[in-house]
Amino acid sequence: MSRLKELRKYVDAEINKIEDPDKRTSAIAHLYGVSLAATMIAQKRGMDPEVASMAAMLHDLYAYKTGSYDDHAHKGADLAREILEKLQLTDVAETDAICSAIYHHDDKLVVDDPFDEILKDADVIHHVMNDLSKEIKDKELKRYEALCKEFGMK
Ligand SMILES: [Fe+2]
Ligand SMILES: [Fe+2]
Repeated sequence: MSRLKELRKYVDAEINKIEDPDKRTSAIAHLYGVSLAATMIAQKRGMDPEVASMAAMLHDLYAYKTGSYDDHAHKGADLAREILEKLQLTDVAETDAICSAIYHHDDKLVVDDPFDEILKDADVIHHVMNDLSKEIKDKELKRYEALCKEFGMK
């Protein structure tokens, strides 16, 4: 089994503990949606798509587990580290890269390391493209416009 598949198995089991079926569905849709977007963006930018995808699978897990978005990026990075150290799927550098991306993922107005930027952009892609009829959040608009340009979309 690939390590992405193995991580997804773990995340699926955690998400399946959510009792509300609507919340469960949107959690799954978001994590897998961001994971796919992260794969594409990493591939395009010449970075590791598998590690980017793994970061995406874990990025909001803290919020889904606790039901709170308070400081979820920073707390989520700690949770991700715990999980990755337990599962032993990544080396130290990969674990650090994943946790850094999760730590910074809510800072959409700031530009961080190129690998951190993949997760932020993938998150924005899913927020916007999951339903194009919804208004784009102010803090995500610039990033979305830059992505449209990068990917040749109007
Ligand atoms: Fe988030
Ligand atoms: Fe997210």
